[in-house]
Amino acid sequence: MKVLIVGSGGREHALAWKIRQSPFLSKLYAAPGNAGIAEIAECVPLSMEDLDALVRFAKEKEIDLTVIGPESLLAAGVVDRFQAEGLKIFGPTKSAARLESSKIFAKEIMLRSGVPTAEFKVFDDAAQAKHHLIESEPPFVIKADGLASGKGVVVATSCEDGVQAITKFMEEKSLGEAGSRIIIEERLEGEELSVLVFTDGESMLPLASAQDHKRLLDLDRGPNTGGMGAYSPCPFLSNEDFYKALDKTVRPILHTLSKEKIIYRGVLYAGLILTRNGPYVLEYNARFGDPETQAVLPRLKSDLLPVLLEIAEGRFPVQPLEWDERYSLNVVMASAGYPGPYEKGVVISGTEAFREKSDLFGFHAGTARNDRGELVTSGGRVLSVTGLGDTLKHAQEKAYEAIYQIRFEGAHFRKDIGRRALESVRS
Ligand code: AMP
Ligand code: GLY
Repeated sequence: MKVLIVGSGGREHALAWKIRQSPFLSKLYAAPGNAGIAEIAECVPLSMEDLDALVRFAKEKEIDLTVIGPESLLAAGVVDRFQAEGLKIFGPTKSAARLESSKIFAKEIMLRSGVPTAEFKVFDDAAQAKHHLIESEPPFVIKADGLASGKGVVVATSCEDGVQAITKFMEEKSLGEAGSRIIIEERLEGEELSVLVFTDGESMLPLASAQDHKRLLDLDRGPNTGGMGAYSPCPFLSNEDFYKALDKTVRPILHTLSKEKIIYRGVLYAGLILTRNGPYVLEYNARFGDPETQAVLPRLKSDLLPVLLEIAEGRFPVQPLEWDERYSLNVVMASAGYPGPYEKGVVISGTEAFREKSDLFGFHAGTARNDRGELVTSGGRVLSVTGLGDTLKHAQEKAYEAIYQIRFEGAHFRKDIGRRALESVRS
């Protein structure tokens, strides 16, 4: 099979690495890819915004399956476009991807499906939203309706912070149109957990659980980011409770969507929070998580490619997924300034540390080659390393041992990925 992966992050490198192992693969392309993906696939410099160019490329090269990484393409209708041309593609259609591209759509469907989620109100007028804050008790969570690459959520502990977020989103339009409608919701407390399922729109084939680390700094301080590290599996939920949580938080959504003639095919990611009253949904994503994918795929023993193809064809995979019993832990290294503006073109050294071993995997994200062929930074999240170990502690040691050998000016990473799980095991 000829496969095209679209995207350029660590998630796409992990997908490319996994798909490369399939005996069914004959040729792997990535658009646009990154310096790491270029070592295992042919990278083609297509713009991710140019859906026509992607369709043309897939036709010209007779691609058997296209796999979409980023949500922006799903929201732009890349799947609808490919399907209209008779091309096979993995991912949900534009209307199904609204579970991620509109937080208001997601909340409304959760309400109609009886899925536990934080109480909320929707606003399209800044003055009314501010008035609501003044009349209620903090803390609040303010969320922009549209896609915002992790910058659309503010957890405000005071009324002033909440008002400031509303001004930024709705009046200053810091996120463009994505922030013209907002949600204000109650803050929930508990451990967070990412659950991902493959689905044909009806049945669910779950992937191993993971926990992301969204805050920039150790001890979960600092601003939200795209994710600074993850580990798998997540020990905060027993296997039995994991399946129960899926039945409460994912299955009813698929059912409601299909009643409304929206068939969700692809991978559905539910961001859960384990409250005292059970699991609640914080958000849905219509794609693989980043960096969850970098933590989860190294544990997957089954061939991923047939699963992606079956889902793309609307068939439910017959084989269960097989998992490595070991723990995995992924640590992300980011550019100085991330998640704000950052410099590009900074030379990276020491990546020999993550030449592949049976218990260590390096995934590139924002990397490129300069004119001299040197590996340089080209994004906010630059690369990540995943360690595997018989215990979470061992996986953590492996990953950090490699991370400490990789260097570039201004590089920063969290030193405490996995901390909360390790503390909970201890207690
Ligand atoms: P989201 O993009 O909706 O997942 O939000 C990003 C992060 O904000 C989540 O991973 C949580 O850490 C936090 N968050 C979002 N909604 C809530 C909520 N209702 N209560 C507490 N934290 C939240
Ligand atoms: N790791 C969070 C996300 O992929 O949205």
